[in-house]
Amino acid sequence: MKLTRTAVLVKPDGLQRGLIGEIIARFERKGLKLVGLKMVRMNEEMLDQWYMEHRDKSFFKNLKSFMSSMPIVAMAWEGIDAVPVVRKLVGTTLGREAEGGSIRGDFGMSQQMNLIHASSNNTDAEREIGIVFNADELFAYHSVVEAVVYAEGEVEYEGL
Ligand code: CMP
Repeated sequence: MKLTRTAVLVKPDGLQRGLIGEIIARFERKGLKLVGLKMVRMNEEMLDQWYMEHRDKSFFKNLKSFMSSMPIVAMAWEGIDAVPVVRKLVGTTLGREAEGGSIRGDFGMSQQMNLIHASSNNTDAEREIGIVFNADELFAYHSVVEAVVYAEGEVEYEGL
C-alpha cells in the first residue's frame, strides 16, 4: 500500500496550552512519519482558502479571527491511510464529546477551541499542505522505524 500525507495544525489554543510536544509524540508513537513542520501566522488569504467550505457558516468570521490571532504549528504526516489514522487520534470536533484517548477527548472541552485541525480526506490534505508548505519544506526520506511499524512488502515506496 502507498504512503499518503495529511495536514495537521495545532491551533492557537493548542499552542497556548503547551500541547505541541504531546501532540507530536502521539503521532510519532503511532508510527506516522513527520515530513513537514513549521510555525506560521496564518493570514486572511490563507484562512479563506483553508476554510472555504465554511465560508457561509455563522462562525466563519470568529474562526478566522481566532486562527489569525497568533501563530499555529503546521505539520505534514505520512503513513498508510494517514488521513483516517490521524483523524482517529484527533477525535471528533466537539471536545467535550470526543472519545477518551483521542487528543480532543483528553484535552478539549470546546467546539471552536478544539486544539487541532486534521484534513478530512486526501484531496483536502493535498490542498491544505499546499497552503502552508512550499515544496522545499516537505521531505521524502526513509524512516528506520518504518521497518518495524510495517511488515516487509506492506509499503510501496515510490521514488525513495
Ligand atoms: P476543524 O475541524 O479544524 O475545522 C473547522 C473548524 O471550525 C472546527 O475545527 C472548529 O474549530 C470550528 N467550528 C466548527 N463548528 C463550529 C461552531 N459551531 N462554532 C464555532 N466554531 C466551530
